[in-house]
Amino acid sequence: MSDSPVSTHDPKVASDSVEGPTPQDQKKMEQAYAQMKRKMSMQDISKKIKHKVMVLSGKGGVGKSTVATGLALSLAQQGMAVGILDIDITGPNVPKMMGLEGRRLHVEEGRIHPAQGHLGVKVISMAFLLDNEDTPVVWRGPIKLGAIQQFIADVEWGNLDYLIIDFPPGTSDEPLTVAQSLPDIDGMVIVTTPQDVALLDSRKSITFSESIKVPVLGVIENMSGFTIKGTTAPGSEVEISAPAGRTEKTTADKDGNFSVTLDIFKKGGGKLTAEEFDVPFLGALPFDPGFVRGGDDGVHRIVSEPEGASAIAFAAVVSAVQDQIKVDDGTSLEII
Ligand SMILES: Nc1ncnc2c1ncn2[C@@H]1O[C@H](COP(=O)(O)OP(=O)(O)OP(=O)(O)O)[C@@H](O)[C@H]1O
Ligand SMILES: [Mg+2]
Repeated sequence: MSDSPVSTHDPKVASDSVEGPTPQDQKKMEQAYAQMKRKMSMQDISKKIKHKVMVLSGKGGVGKSTVATGLALSLAQQGMAVGILDIDITGPNVPKMMGLEGRRLHVEEGRIHPAQGHLGVKVISMAFLLDNEDTPVVWRGPIKLGAIQQFIADVEWGNLDYLIIDFPPGTSDEPLTVAQSLPDIDGMVIVTTPQDVALLDSRKSITFSESIKVPVLGVIENMSGFTIKGTTAPGSEVEISAPAGRTEKTTADKDGNFSVTLDIFKKGGGKLTAEEFDVPFLGALPFDPGFVRGGDDGVHRIVSEPEGASAIAFAAVVSAVQDQIKVDDGTSLEII
């Protein structure tokens, strides 16, 4: 044994001197360090993304993913660099809509690289983590939220003009986790359909926005009206039997073409919600069976018909969203 008054080999003497960190302390320090690194990484990522927009709804099935992919593709049509983050763990369907079904994540030097979908839109989806896309992942609470944070911190988006974030239905923990992880979110758009039930639920989303301190950019009404077109004798009157016993009338033009928009559900629900909550109405998107086909065969309507009525409607909605982002640019957001 050494004569030295302090010997690291002597457990008694060592415990009398300055104590080293216990294994628990060590673990806490490592966790704090990892947390700090992750936070810094999120801030770095955030700086490279000019605008971040969340797509939410109170109710499922109103077309959030269709709208999120449509907004992304419409922005990409304008030449913007765009990404989509699909946060829906239990039913992610963005990859399918973007023609990326069955893709796996590409990881390089510890960074996750997004897949490139139609029009060069970068896509990250929880679906890329699933072994079998038919098996919904049942990740609970902290694991799910931790995975979302990690996804945000570890993805190499590069420079983006817009990141569109698609959520599962409802006002659950996911939007809060994203809002807390990703600084400077421009705002959320609320998707609703013209019916009353969807309308009621989108009100919940607006109240929720106040609690997570991300502004509502506005309300989008999806599946708004269904347009039928036809030809008949030039200048003749046309009568169409519409839903709920209504009759729609129009007159064919000089070439005999006519078109009538039928309100399959009710009309104007999105506008009413927007007015009631004093947030902007960003426009209506038509009911277009091409979206359903696009969801099935992986070619989004905007890609199959870039100059069609739906693409035009999306461009108008995108322009309304961009106007709101400009309006809100002066306000700095604090997410606590
Ligand atoms: N404007 C539209 N016209 C016709 N069909 C549409 C339209 N928008 C969405 N759909 C169809 O409605 C269904 C639900 O759409 P989508 O998956 O986008 O909804 P969601 O709100 O994301 O659903 P979830 O709540 O399950 O995430 C899909 O089959 C989609 O193709
Ligand atoms: Mg969806």
